[in-house]
Amino acid sequence: MTQAIRLAINGASGRMGRALLALIREDRRFELVHAVVSAGSEHDGTPVFGELSTSLRYTHDWSAAPGADVVVDFSGPDGLSAALAHCIEHRIALVTGTTGIDATIEAQLDDAARRIAVLRAANFSLGVAVLTRLLREAAAALPDWDLEIVEAHHGRKEDAPSGTALALGHAAATARGTTLEKDGVYVREGRPGARRSGNIGFAVVRGGDVVGEHTALLLGHGERVELSHRATDRSIFARGALEAAAWLAGQKPGSYSIDDLLQTRHAKAAL
Ligand SMILES: NC(=O)c1ccc[n+]([C@@H]2O[C@H](COP(=O)([O-])OP(=O)(O)OC[C@H]3O[C@@H](n4cnc5c(N)ncnc54)[C@H](OP(=O)(O)O)[C@@H]3O)[C@@H](O)[C@H]2O)c1
Repeated sequence: MTQAIRLAINGASGRMGRALLALIREDRRFELVHAVVSAGSEHDGTPVFGELSTSLRYTHDWSAAPGADVVVDFSGPDGLSAALAHCIEHRIALVTGTTGIDATIEAQLDDAARRIAVLRAANFSLGVAVLTRLLREAAAALPDWDLEIVEAHHGRKEDAPSGTALALGHAAATARGTTLEKDGVYVREGRPGARRSGNIGFAVVRGGDVVGEHTALLLGHGERVELSHRATDRSIFARGALEAAAWLAGQKPGSYSIDDLLQTRHAKAAL
């Protein structure tokens, strides 16, 4: 029997962390070795799998972590920074889905990819990976059509627009030979004036228990194309992240995306 992949979860008590824990219990590919929460978390020190279990406890402390093959992070910018430092020091692969990170952490992740394998995705769903490909094609094929991206999430989400919306916007902008820095529009209020041709607009909805919805609108004259993805169950992201972790644990240092994982699968399927 091949050895289980030793996995640590960062942000283990959160919505995504709990979805990951639920899947890992049933997944023999992995051995959970560390479950990290924030310093001061109400979960710190409590058992991960309930009082009856003698096993692992949540901790805020990376210094006590046993050896691991891969860390899966869904925490926040501060949590990601700490996990990244640990991964670099101990040469551990990192899968991260944390969004809303600043340019400094972006640069740290790029730099880390020279020493460890790093896989980042603003959205671990396979459907969104396909939506991104479709949008790239549509944005390039209809270069003069107005492009707007609308996203909706639950009311507790802290960053906006969502990382997925920005990633979609980035993919469309690149396909049109521009950038979001130049053409992205994030706020319209009062009298913003007429829409400038080439702009890529973002609109944000927050509320209820919406898991995640993204629609790219390509608006022409007398017709429009709408490309939509709706997530109804958070476990799709956790499932995707675990697939990514199983794949990344064997990779050499570098910066990877879900597309790399999909391409490996396509190549295998073609054999
Ligand atoms: N890429 C994707 O597919 C995807 C999907 C969903 C969400 N996300 C992103 O993933 C992140 C987490 O989302 P969520 O909905 O699970 O959030 P959440 O429910 O608020 O959970 C956040 C988790 O991170 C922990 N945490 C906070 N600060 C930390 C630190 N400094 N060190 C270690 N752990 C820390 C929290 O611990 P305590 O609360 O116990 O203190 C909690 O376990 C967000 O950035 C979100 O946008 C990405």
